[in-house]
Amino acid sequence: MHPRPSQFPASESHRLVNEDRRRRQPVELIVQRIGPREGEVIADLGAGIGYLSIPLADEGAKVIALDFQQEMLDGLRERDNGLERIVLVRTKLPEVPLPDSSLDRVVMVNVFHEVEDKARLVSEISRVLRPEGRVSLVDWQARETERGPPPHERVPMDQAPSYFPGFVLEREYDDPNYYHLELRRR
Ligand SMILES: C[S@@+](CC[C@H](N)C(=O)[O-])C[C@H]1O[C@@H](n2cnc3c(N)ncnc32)[C@H](O)[C@@H]1O
Repeated sequence: MHPRPSQFPASESHRLVNEDRRRRQPVELIVQRIGPREGEVIADLGAGIGYLSIPLADEGAKVIALDFQQEMLDGLRERDNGLERIVLVRTKLPEVPLPDSSLDRVVMVNVFHEVEDKARLVSEISRVLRPEGRVSLVDWQARETERGPPPHERVPMDQAPSYFPGFVLEREYDDPNYYHLELRRR
């Protein structure tokens, strides 16, 4: 049995948006692969200080940012210049306190490996997504990398789709440090 996965502390939030990260995991590339539509309703689970939420909102998506650390949500609001266009929800995943079939897409960037009860989270995601809704799953490759969580806590790319029964893998991107899967709810 592995111990509970470690969770990224708010005291380290400056590491979520800096030059090093922009180089290793460019947010523009993630947004391009997602290809958000104007008005698309997207929940960013474990949004942190909004590395992805803010660019998605800039593209015209209606973004709901969820995180269990209030400092992260406060930091997100501050980075978004105090605008109220992104809805903030403090919750501990796997609880997703949103209505049934209310979302077009769920995104998770470097978060899935941190959630203990993955099966319950995926069942919550299935509930809140509309039929044909998408999941954009971006996470660390399960091998030694210069930075990142302990390898045993990571979810290998080839195993990640099996956590999503009822979803079809539409596209996958295999980068040196991270993978990006696009899944569609059947
Ligand atoms: C490594 S950070 C990534 C943040 C953001 N997605 C990004 O790419 O910059 C992981 C985030 O997930 C949040 N998180 C981890 N486990 C969570 C849980 N069970 N419920 C809600 N948020 C969680 C942490 O608070 C943290 O903000």
